[in-house]
Amino acid sequence: MLVLGGSWFVGRVVVEDAVERGLEVTVFHRGLSGATHSDAQVLYGDRENLDDLRRLARQGPWDVVVDAAGSVPAVVSASAEILAHVADRLVYVSTISAYRDWPHAPVDEGSALWDGDPDLDPGTRAWDPDAYGPLKVGCEVACRRAFGDDRLLILRPHVVLGRYEYVGRLPWWLGRMRRGGRVLAPSPDRSIQPVDVRDLSRFLLYQVEAGARGVFNVAAPPGGETYGDMLRACAQVVADDAVEPAELVWVDEDWLVAQGVTQWTELPLWRNAAAPWGMSVDRAVATGLRTRPLAETVLDTWEWLAGGGQPVAHERFAEHGIAPEWEAALIRRFLAERSG
Ligand SMILES: NC(=O)c1ccc[n+]([C@@H]2O[C@H](COP(=O)([O-])OP(=O)(O)OC[C@H]3O[C@@H](n4cnc5c(N)ncnc54)[C@H](OP(=O)(O)O)[C@@H]3O)[C@@H](O)[C@H]2O)c1
Repeated sequence: MLVLGGSWFVGRVVVEDAVERGLEVTVFHRGLSGATHSDAQVLYGDRENLDDLRRLARQGPWDVVVDAAGSVPAVVSASAEILAHVADRLVYVSTISAYRDWPHAPVDEGSALWDGDPDLDPGTRAWDPDAYGPLKVGCEVACRRAFGDDRLLILRPHVVLGRYEYVGRLPWWLGRMRRGGRVLAPSPDRSIQPVDVRDLSRFLLYQVEAGARGVFNVAAPPGGETYGDMLRACAQVVADDAVEPAELVWVDEDWLVAQGVTQWTELPLWRNAAAPWGMSVDRAVATGLRTRPLAETVLDTWEWLAGGGQPVAHERFAEHGIAPEWEAALIRRFLAERSG
């Protein structure tokens, strides 16, 4: 197996898992960030450099390539075109953001996608949430053009959580609970469906071994766990290390929106749209997807951080989390309005 990326988060766990299963794994990345499993062969190179890609291709053939690091269509297209000659199959890790109607309506694999241009290079590599969905669709189209439907498996995960996460979601909430005191906590009953990175990896490898192709959404089944379950689990796992005990102050969602709190980032994973957590995963569940309780993901992430794990530096980390003074002011205002 060849893994593009593979030194952090999704790719890193896929590599660890694959090595443990006895697969022979090669990892291709620049060597600028993260780390790889010591039993994997590492080839250093830049996938934006055609000479590096040609050098990589000469190390083949492979049974399967897993592209866990592609978000620019022209770049994904170049690697897919070159590797299609030396690899039997391709797995492309896409995203829920590929769906045009997400987060405003429930989505399944047949839902409308954004238009995607397989040759597009936006020039910038800066994170842009509005461009992300169409770019990932362009990448999907590029993969299909190079490998064809018969040799292609596309996974569209919802939010992924767990060890090595660098976006700033669970790491931020765990840090916040560890600081303790009164914590602004919205939507205890809102159902959420993030997937543990280990469950995503296990499903991916299972599908590879089964020779699967086509498109699968990957998330915890909708309607299972809640935002409240996640926050309570975070408070619980850090309790012994907390500066002071966390006291969750449950606040009405509409009130938070009226105060101008930024959804998705200022309070990570909180979103007040019509269907942020409405991803159907029936197809994946019918073919073997199993997801663990969110409390296990929270615990595993905490164990990783408490054991010295560090998220790789990433521009998205800083945009997550609410400023302490602003949070405290909101809690005071909410409690005053409620008592008055
Ligand atoms: N995070 C989520 O919640 C979520 C949800 C749904 C889907 N996804 C998708 O999941 C996939 C995996 O995400 P991720 O966050 O684990 O990884 P990622 O940020 O997409 O990729 C990181 C990996 O790519 C390597 N890399 C970056 N630029 C490179 C280049 N020019 N040439 C060669 N290697 C390069 C990095 O190592 P070096 O820096 O050393 O090169 C690192 O190993 C992504 O495609 C993402 O769209 C993520």
